[in-house]
Amino acid sequence: MISGYADQWALVTGASSGIGAEFARRLASRGMHLVLVARRKELLEKLAEELHTAHGTKCEIIVCDLTDPVQRAAMVAEIAKRNITIELLINNAGLGYVCEIETTDIKRIMEMVQLNIGALTELAYVYLQGMMLRGHGAVLNVSSVAAFQPVAYMGVYAASKAFVLHFSEAMWAEAREKGVTVTALCPGPTQTDFFDVAGAKGWLAKKRSQTPEEVVRCGMRALEKKRQYTVSGWINYILALAVRLANRRTVVRESMKYFRPAKPK
Ligand SMILES: NC(=O)c1ccc[n+]([C@@H]2O[C@H](COP(=O)([O-])OP(=O)(O)OC[C@H]3O[C@@H](n4cnc5c(N)ncnc54)[C@H](OP(=O)(O)O)[C@@H]3O)[C@@H](O)[C@H]2O)c1
Repeated sequence: MISGYADQWALVTGASSGIGAEFARRLASRGMHLVLVARRKELLEKLAEELHTAHGTKCEIIVCDLTDPVQRAAMVAEIAKRNITIELLINNAGLGYVCEIETTDIKRIMEMVQLNIGALTELAYVYLQGMMLRGHGAVLNVSSVAAFQPVAYMGVYAASKAFVLHFSEAMWAEAREKGVTVTALCPGPTQTDFFDVAGAKGWLAKKRSQTPEEVVRCGMRALEKKRQYTVSGWINYILALAVRLANRRTVVRESMKYFRPAKPK
C-alpha cells in the first residue's frame, strides 16, 4: 500500500471513539504518526497520550465539526501549516440516523449527508491529489454492509454508504495507475456507540456483531492487498453477495423489520 508505515503521517477522522480510535491504535503500533480529528477534544487528548506513552507516537489533535465546510477547510489549512504530509487517510467519521419520514429531523439528515458524503469526498480529493503527485499513498473510506441494499428507516444512511462504496471503487481504478490505493471498508454491526448515536438503542445487544479490533484488522489487510473494497466478517460477506441475487422489492421490504421504530404504547 503505502511505502512503509514507520514515521509517516496518517490522518484519522472520527478518532475519538470506536473504529477510528482502533485504527489510530493499530497505526501507532506500526510506527505511524497521527493527526486525530473529531469534535470531542478530551477523548482525542486521552488517546494521544495513550499512544505517545505506548509507542512514542507524535499525535496532532484537530478539533473539527466535519459537517461544516468552513471548519473542514480550516483543518486542511492547519495540517498544511504544521508541514505534515498525509500518507494515509482513514476517512472514518460517520453517523447513522434511524427515523420515520413523518418525524424526521431534516437538519440532522442533512448533517449526516454533509459528514458521510461531503466531508469524506472533499478530504479524499484533497489528499489524493497530493498522493498522486508523489506517486504513493493510500485512502481507506469506511462504508458499511448497508451499502449493498436500501435500508428502510435508515434510507439516507444506507444510500450514503452506497455512495462511499461506489466512489471508492472508482477512485481505486483511477489512482492505482499512479501508485496510490483506495479501499472501501464495509463493516457489519460493530460494538461501538454507533447504534446509540443513531437512535437504535440496544439493537446491537440482540444482533451478531464484531469488535472494532476485528473490523480494523480486516481493513488493514485489504489496504495492504490493495483491494478496492472489503466486507468485514464472512457472514456479512455472504449476505452482501446474497442480496445481489434476490429480488429488489423483497430485499427492501425485508429491511423494514430491522429498524422500524417501536410504536408508543
Ligand atoms: N458500528 C457499526 O455497527 C458500523 C457498521 C458499519 C459502518 N460503520 C461506520 O463506521 C464509522 C465509525 O463509526 P463507529 O462505529 O466507530 O461509531 P462511533 O463510535 O459513534 O464513532 C463515530 C466517530 O465519528 C465522529 N464524528 C461524528 N460526527 C462528527 C462530526 N460532525 N465531525 C467530526 N467527527 C464526527 C465521532 O467523534 P465526535 O463525536 O467526537 O465528533 C466518532 O469519533 C462510521 O462511518 C460508521 O458509519 C459502523
